Amino acid sequence: MEKLRIRGGRPLHGHVPISGAKNASLPMLAATLLTSDPVQISNVPRLRDVHTMLAVLQSLGADASFCGEAEVSVQADNINNLKAPYDLVKTMRASFLVLGPLLARFQFVEVSLPGGCAIGTRPIDQHLKALAALGATIELKEGYVTAEIDGRLRGSLIDMDIATVTGTQNALMAATLADGDSTIVNAAREPEIVALANMLNDMGADVEGAGTDVIHVRGKEALHGCTVTLMPDRIEAGTFLIAGAATRGCITINGGCHDLLDAPIAKLRQTGVEVTVDGDYIHLDTHGEQPRAVDIRTATYPGIPTDLQAQFLALNCVAKGTSRVIETIFENRFMHVPELARLGATIESDGTTATTVGVPQLYGANIMATDLRASSCLVIGGLVASGETVVDRVYHLDRGYEHIEEKLTAVGADIQRIDE
Ligand code: EPZ
Repeated sequence: MEKLRIRGGRPLHGHVPISGAKNASLPMLAATLLTSDPVQISNVPRLRDVHTMLAVLQSLGADASFCGEAEVSVQADNINNLKAPYDLVKTMRASFLVLGPLLARFQFVEVSLPGGCAIGTRPIDQHLKALAALGATIELKEGYVTAEIDGRLRGSLIDMDIATVTGTQNALMAATLADGDSTIVNAAREPEIVALANMLNDMGADVEGAGTDVIHVRGKEALHGCTVTLMPDRIEAGTFLIAGAATRGCITINGGCHDLLDAPIAKLRQTGVEVTVDGDYIHLDTHGEQPRAVDIRTATYPGIPTDLQAQFLALNCVAKGTSRVIETIFENRFMHVPELARLGATIESDGTTATTVGVPQLYGANIMATDLRASSCLVIGGLVASGETVVDRVYHLDRGYEHIEEKLTAVGADIQRIDE
């Protein structure tokens, strides 16, 4: 099992390049199923989740692979299987994003229920409600969802009870090939939905309103191929900014997603660090000072993303003062709390709130990652702690952070991947 060994206590200094956005790449790869034409996506990170989604597309019969360092090409002109298998879907919930495109193009799809994960039960009722609104007959049997319709999906009002990101994406992709117009109400507003909508429009779809809570779609009979560049990963960028603040360093993020990070940047400024934006660069400087603890309440976009909650918590553990961090999106997203306590943090949590009392110092220990963003929080803990920290189960980290030890080493961290 691979682990990361970190000798902490070193401020991060330097430039960090940001990779393409994992949570934009996955729906956009699923969207390639909407056409038989070739689709090229550039700036794609070589992440475990991307490789899993490529494997899912291949299992359906699509030609899908990296054709360059960060370029992916997909052609779904020979789909010979409409069943997304459990063994792939269980490894990555986002595989469920093939549901909408396959149903819309082939009028039938069978996808394994994704099941829950470490951070919550992760239901998919809203995904199914949206497809039913478009006329599909939905059946749940033996751990699989089957959706089918005679003829094309029918444009409709889709009223989401929850602003779900991938639920909105499944509904949006399905509606692009429906007969007639659809309106998605209470749509999620995340930038990754805007990125998907822009790609769909490049494929000949007619989507308006993405990024707001009401999205209008005029259905088309077919979509064509496109060539698209993936947006930068705002969560990776936020993670490195928080790491720079926690280590009392001075780092610059190269990646052009400052406009997607207004809330996290404002929150970082509340800690007392200096954050300036210059074109595609975000510059954070702590001037070597200990940051102040900040209260956090996660929210849907444009609020503080739940995917940065664990990282801010790590910062608060070594900041001046106390903090309350309220997680409003997922019901079990504090499994990093006991691991931070093992590093010497004064921290506790109940189901929805974690509280910290900042300490001047953490101390290296053996700790274990439990999910993707918890693992990045524990890396930040190790970077701050004096002595040696070994983070176990880093396969979680590899799902969402490309070349993380190289990027951290380049800004002064003492970090190695070890295989025990
Ligand atoms: C997306 O997950 C992201 N994943 C998550 O990132 C992110 O944390 C989440 O959005 C929230 O921003 C991808 O984009 C691949 P939701 P998603 O549906 O779409 C409830 C990471 O670390 N809900 O917006 O699965 C659900 O239980 C990952 O990169 C229903 O009740 O999240 C949750 O409480 C983790 N019924 C809330 O909505 C549904 O049908 C928001 O979940 C769907 C969701």
